[in-house]
Amino acid sequence: MSTLTIFSSVPARAAEAVPAATSRPIPAVLGADLEVPVKGGRLVGYANLDYAASAPCLEPVSAAVSAALPAYSSVHRGAGYASQLTTARYEQARHTVRAFVGARPDDAVIFTRNTTDATNLLARCLPAGTTTVVFDTEHHASLLPWQKSVRLAPPAFPGEAVRAADEALAGIEGPKLLVVTAASNVTGELWPIAALAHVAHRHGARILVDAAQLVPHRRLNLTALDLDYVAFSGHKLYAPFGAGVLVGRRDWLAEGEPYLKGGGAVRAVGDGTEWHDDPEPRHEAGTPNVLGAIALAAACDALTATGWTALVREEERLIARLRSGLASIEGVRELSLWGDDHPRVGIVSFTVDGYSAREVAEVLSSEYGIGVRDGKFCAHPFVRHLLGETDGGCEDGTASAVRASIGIGTTQEHVDRLVEALRDLVNR
Ligand SMILES: Cc1ncc(COP(=O)(O)O)c(C=O)c1O
Repeated sequence: MSTLTIFSSVPARAAEAVPAATSRPIPAVLGADLEVPVKGGRLVGYANLDYAASAPCLEPVSAAVSAALPAYSSVHRGAGYASQLTTARYEQARHTVRAFVGARPDDAVIFTRNTTDATNLLARCLPAGTTTVVFDTEHHASLLPWQKSVRLAPPAFPGEAVRAADEALAGIEGPKLLVVTAASNVTGELWPIAALAHVAHRHGARILVDAAQLVPHRRLNLTALDLDYVAFSGHKLYAPFGAGVLVGRRDWLAEGEPYLKGGGAVRAVGDGTEWHDDPEPRHEAGTPNVLGAIALAAACDALTATGWTALVREEERLIARLRSGLASIEGVRELSLWGDDHPRVGIVSFTVDGYSAREVAEVLSSEYGIGVRDGKFCAHPFVRHLLGETDGGCEDGTASAVRASIGIGTTQEHVDRLVEALRDLVNR
């Protein structure tokens, strides 16, 4: 299989289901008119270029939460009308999320706190002796939760990722799980998840896709891509109310230890304890984050109603403008694993000659009202690899980069302001 074939299977399949026309305008985000102080005491409009960390709240998400609040009540356990209504809204949120990711009808949809919680939940449910195969390019949420793992070096090109996974999985006996990100939180680059799923299944393994940075930017279809599990966070999907989700095959989740032990996860407690077999109650003990789930579902609805064509077109226009602006500044270097032309979402990391990442981020904030992220983005091995560093502490300011990330609410002025600010900085 050529590199091109391996990679092109992802967008091609995903594209099949993209609606042809936009049905609604792109919704607004809260805080679009936020003003922040800069040096000298002036106020300027905030240029939020840190969506990959946490995206602002979409207006329809805020509206859905406000609409749910007056009847807010307990779920699953109350006979009162408000409790029944809130339960219905919570369970409807599950259906909405299931449809949003194109899950199979019998897939479990478990609400969690975030992606990290979702990967840790799956890690606790793996059959005994499972070996996980994971690339060093992963975010720590997908790199660290596994008891027994084989770590693969950053692949030089997408086909090499598939080849390395193939080879590693072939050498493992017993249950195995391949864990891979769909879109890198460092470079934004898209991974060949369809081809990786194919390879995993050929070796009798399952695949977990960390979709935290994909779902805010692209449509994901779990069934079409033949994925076993996906995880993502509401707060990166314009729904910052503390919920995330794990979606996927029921059997391991039905057999794994309940993630939290307490009310809701049990059918009966006497001398012994009878736990629910259904993954949702089994792993959602205690009162769940109902508003978080409603918010997450409202974000899924809002993005679907807008249509991916319009969202992707606007994001690609802005990210192309940003990247060509960065490329035009001597001393600014964009980080990339698979080269300039590889498809990516709206995330760009870079370094600036003569300045630490922290200095750049601080100047951008204090002088230009621009919010970016600096550091290693909870992907220490990957950032060190991209910077050609074999060493460098975690928080000591070495081997760090600056990351700008965009989404709904990002304007051309924000992008241009960042480029001009960096041009000013290198010319000082
Ligand atoms: C690719 C990726 N996976 C996982 C995570 C962890 O997400 P959370 O902090 O919401 O658990 C992040 C967060 O930045 C991420 O970018």
